[in-house]
Amino acid sequence: MSTPDLEPKIRIKNVSRIFGRSARRALRQLDAGVGKKEVQEETGVVVGVHDVSLDIYPGEIFVIMGLSGSGKSTLLRLINRLLEPSAGRIEVDGVDVTAMGRRQLRQLRRAKFGMVFQSFALLPHRTVLGNVAFGLEIQGVGRAEREARALQVIETVGLSGYEHRHASELSGGMQQRVGLARALAADPEILLMDEAFSALDPLIRSQLQDDLLEIQSRIGKTIVFVSHDLDEAIKIGSRIAILRDGRLIQVGTAQDILANPADAYVSAFVEGADRTRVLSAEQIMQPLRVAAKPGDSARVVLRKMERSGFGGLLVVDNARHLLGFVRLADVTAQRDRAQLDASTFQPLPTVTAETTLSDVIQRIHAEGSPVAVVDARQRVVGVVDKSTVLAALAQGDGNSAPATEAPPAEAAPPAAEASPADASPAAEASPTADASPATDAAGPSAAAART
Ligand SMILES: Nc1ncnc2c1ncn2[C@@H]1O[C@H](COP(=O)(O)OP(=O)(O)O)[C@@H](O)[C@H]1O
Ligand SMILES: [Mg+2]
Repeated sequence: MSTPDLEPKIRIKNVSRIFGRSARRALRQLDAGVGKKEVQEETGVVVGVHDVSLDIYPGEIFVIMGLSGSGKSTLLRLINRLLEPSAGRIEVDGVDVTAMGRRQLRQLRRAKFGMVFQSFALLPHRTVLGNVAFGLEIQGVGRAEREARALQVIETVGLSGYEHRHASELSGGMQQRVGLARALAADPEILLMDEAFSALDPLIRSQLQDDLLEIQSRIGKTIVFVSHDLDEAIKIGSRIAILRDGRLIQVGTAQDILANPADAYVSAFVEGADRTRVLSAEQIMQPLRVAAKPGDSARVVLRKMERSGFGGLLVVDNARHLLGFVRLADVTAQRDRAQLDASTFQPLPTVTAETTLSDVIQRIHAEGSPVAVVDARQRVVGVVDKSTVLAALAQGDGNSAPATEAPPAEAAPPAAEASPADASPAAEASPTADASPATDAAGPSAAAART
């Protein structure tokens, strides 16, 4: 994953690639905002990519996604200068690749890059071993060394036992494992994979995606992976870039993109995605704004409930650790007590902030109650109930604000119908109502949950 204090492995800065002559004129028009089609009609050139800027960090699986012809392969090939940029600059480990001479470039490719293509491009009459060792052979690595190295990566990709089979005897999935092993043989730092799994049957494809993730967890390369398949992008991508007509439309994690698609094109792209597998509890929860404290009198709790507009409240201690859930009926029953009876606190299941919506739904269903969302230090940060889930799923059109900015207070059930199964214990209907620290039981760090 990307971290801000990390130097990018690959930096793409305002890079364009025009196919054809009069690239300069085409670039001027593109810069002025003229679309790919119009520029092509007028100048006769084809726009590969235009003005793309991206940072890709070490250890990422960075997915480049878009419809056919959107410029994915062009962008990938610009990274190791298999294609020359018409404008812009590419840096690898801080070094300007666009300024390199031929020899330097060849050295760079050999030392840092491995490529895997959709068409496996294997040598059919060679064995698996011969194919995997092929790159090293070309580089003049001696037989013993290159075979030892090849056997090692053959094991990495799960092909042990197949070393002496001919490539042509293997299934598509196996052949692509050979392709991957061949790319890994020279131990490159960066893998460029262009629709590497797109030609495979869905089941085999899914298996290879799993395997790639598992292999990556061991080898930790920087992987740039081109795909036109959103589900694949979501599954394997630490971040995703979406191209349209050669332009970069959006970059982010799958969660970012699904929660907040940049435009109608991205929305159309993400429409078919299974949001429940991508959105997290943190993204859809109602942030914790008002909670009861164990020392509260029944009256204080009733006032808090009234203020929040819901028929139940979470009970948290000063460290915001969850003690349970109190229902309106139980509080009214002990109306005159100076301190709530802890035995009336109902247990409430918790999930972590990263739990997927799909798992949250399962929990809510299995437990028949809302779930509290806790951070890494077990502090309650929010609540998810049925209405929260529905509100999150209803946002599928992508035109609404991200869920985290719009707690669906109105969608919650009225207080009178309170029961653990359908109450929204934490949401605060009015943003001003919790302004007084004296009555806000959420503790000193509650401000963090209020943003
Ligand atoms: N060698 C080339 N000559 C002319 N046009 C090209 C060439 N390579 C790609 N293109 C054009 O550039 C655009 C982007 O192509 P490409 O990067 O292959 O898209 P993708 O990989 O997203 O399908 C397309 O319009 C394509 O026709
Ligand atoms: Mg392509």
